[in-house]
Amino acid sequence: VWTVDNSEQVIEKNSQLIQASLWIKKDEVVAFPTETVYGLGGNAYSDTAIGRIYEAKGRPSDNPLIVHIAERSQLQDLVGEIPDKANKLMGAFWPGPLTIIFPKGSKVSARVTGGLDTVAVRMPDHPVALEFIKSCGVPLAAPSANLSGKPSPTSAVHVYEDLSGRIPGIVDGGQTGIGVESTVVDCSVDGQVTILRPGGVTKEQLEHVLGCAVYVDPSFTKKDTAPRSPGMKYTHYAPDAPFVLVNGSREFIQQLVKQAKSEGRRAGVLTTVENEGFYSADAVIPAGVRSRPETVAAALYDALRAFNEAKVDIIYGEVFPKHGVGDAIMNRLEKAAGGNMMVEEDK
Ligand code: TXA
Ligand code: MG
Repeated sequence: VWTVDNSEQVIEKNSQLIQASLWIKKDEVVAFPTETVYGLGGNAYSDTAIGRIYEAKGRPSDNPLIVHIAERSQLQDLVGEIPDKANKLMGAFWPGPLTIIFPKGSKVSARVTGGLDTVAVRMPDHPVALEFIKSCGVPLAAPSANLSGKPSPTSAVHVYEDLSGRIPGIVDGGQTGIGVESTVVDCSVDGQVTILRPGGVTKEQLEHVLGCAVYVDPSFTKKDTAPRSPGMKYTHYAPDAPFVLVNGSREFIQQLVKQAKSEGRRAGVLTTVENEGFYSADAVIPAGVRSRPETVAAALYDALRAFNEAKVDIIYGEVFPKHGVGDAIMNRLEKAAGGNMMVEEDK
């Protein structure tokens, strides 16, 4: 997170934010840091700005955007009504990595919601994001600031790799903290709360606050059901080389590497610090410490991007337990693999 510890940085920070908010006022789009990943923001009430977001990302326009706010008062013009459970969740998790789907207010354009009658809203827990949104004076519609299909950016450098020449600027806030996107929950269907995308806030945390069961949209796991969150149907988070998720031992993964190499292919392994020393491959890249899943989430996208530089032809990745933040980690890895999954016999 951005620390401002001397006067020179203060000046630089203020001038960045002033310049960036001027761009927003001219319906341009600007990347900015949040606690999860960088967002590509534009005035949520400007169809011109929304068009530019889709264009810069190369994103299909039926995939709706999350609207980012800095104050609760900004909800008024965005949402139709606020369900009780949404109120509870906002109280517990805002600002923070929780996106809530509300019935849409009449001022919100169909360009933002991909034609849906609901709108996704979140208040990010990042000082620079909050200050930036305030200085713009409007809510910011913002998807993750990557090219469509690529891993989400967790640093300004990642944004630059994907979007330089396509947007006027990036507000640099250093590395993001959480590293995977917000949890998306649907509160628009009466009395029911459904997770549409696992993320920084876990199912366990949601249930604890609500005191009732939270549903999980089955389209995460079933390929042929239409997802309620349109974004979940696209290939995502993918490095350049094919990525294969392997449910098996380290020995089995090393065997796969050996096989690939014997066929003349450069192979990489996505692992964690605990297992890094075990493998011999063209690129062995650890994403955090397995025993602390939040460190895996924080390092995941940077690790996926690092394989592009290593110029491997195939990547094998270890699996993680699907609970807590592991839900989000596995969801992103399964998307990155696009269904490419191997299971060791007798495992
Ligand atoms: O952490 C995050 O959520 C980051 C930062 C920048 O805030 N943003 C982000 O946005 O991940 P994006 O556009 O990459 O993902 C938004 C997800 C997509 O899966 C989209 O389909 C879903 O939210 N979504 C947006 N509006 C929706 C709606 N009205 N109903 C259902 N799903 C919606
Ligand atoms: Mg995204």
